[in-house]
Amino acid sequence: MRILTGIQPSGALHVGNYFGAMLPAIQLQQEGEAYYFIANYHSMTSLTDAKLRRQYTVDVALDFLACGLDPKKCVFWRQSDVPEVTELAWLLTTVAHMGLLRRCHSYKDKVDKLGGGEDGAVNHGLFAYPVLMAADILLYDSNIVPVGKDQKQHLEVTRDLAIKFNELYGKTFVLPESRIREDVAVVPGIDGQKMSKSYGNTIEIFGEEKPTRKKIMSMQMDSRTPEEPKLDADKNLAVQLMKVIDLEKGKACEEKLRVGGYGYGDLKKELFGTYWDYFSDARAKRAELANNLDFVNQVLNDGAEKARVVASKVLARAKRACGLD
Ligand code: TRP
Repeated sequence: MRILTGIQPSGALHVGNYFGAMLPAIQLQQEGEAYYFIANYHSMTSLTDAKLRRQYTVDVALDFLACGLDPKKCVFWRQSDVPEVTELAWLLTTVAHMGLLRRCHSYKDKVDKLGGGEDGAVNHGLFAYPVLMAADILLYDSNIVPVGKDQKQHLEVTRDLAIKFNELYGKTFVLPESRIREDVAVVPGIDGQKMSKSYGNTIEIFGEEKPTRKKIMSMQMDSRTPEEPKLDADKNLAVQLMKVIDLEKGKACEEKLRVGGYGYGDLKKELFGTYWDYFSDARAKRAELANNLDFVNQVLNDGAEKARVVASKVLARAKRACGLD
């Protein structure tokens, strides 16, 4: 069974990314052949700074390797090191109806956000984004694609395109299944809304000690005194965050608040300590890898080489099917 997913290089990852996407993906290494890549072609639809793209690509590689992605178990590469994917995207684009792509929420959201409708600032890459994503998936005969809820529609497009191509040209592509992460905790940010870069309420996985402590200590609580028993302790934001990181510790803090005699300052200190300890091994690992970028590059190059073996086979199969051989 082949498990494939793409990770956009978009800057420092936060605790919400970690528990929502990274950890589940890293754990899936145990269940099959994990094929994970850094979606740097996709990032071109929204990021136009070459230096930043290069930087974010290295960052995301460091983050995943530091957090336990094992290059001996999985295949990990940069999307653009396997250019076959853009060729397959062309084949798929000829079976992708305009209406299908126009109905994608992610595209509609971008059109709204950028303004001016379809003639406004929206680029064709954003429109074709799901086709390239379908190529990513179909190029590796992927069986399972773990993604967040926001990507569910893109997986449906992928299946549609595969079915259409198979109907027109004979059975060529394996139909992938999405594995939507519904069960994972929604991680609250420091303001109580869902943790998200766009809300500016994140705690970064590898943030610096001082500013991160400050962020956590500045979380807003109510004005009850430490002595007061707090029967609604389960609703406390610091407790909820702590439970995501360490369930037992979170429960213990909830109990202390409930009983009374435990103040919010102490609670937040304990949250910071829990967070800091939880990521301490990964932090050390990341520092070590950052000092050994040759190794990181080697991992990505080896990954690309392995990925390319599968990619060229599947691309040849697709070209043969439609008479391009
Ligand atoms: N669109 C995905 C995201 O933003 C990233 C991605 C690109 C992807 N290609 C993929 C995910 C293929 C799964 C499979 O999260």
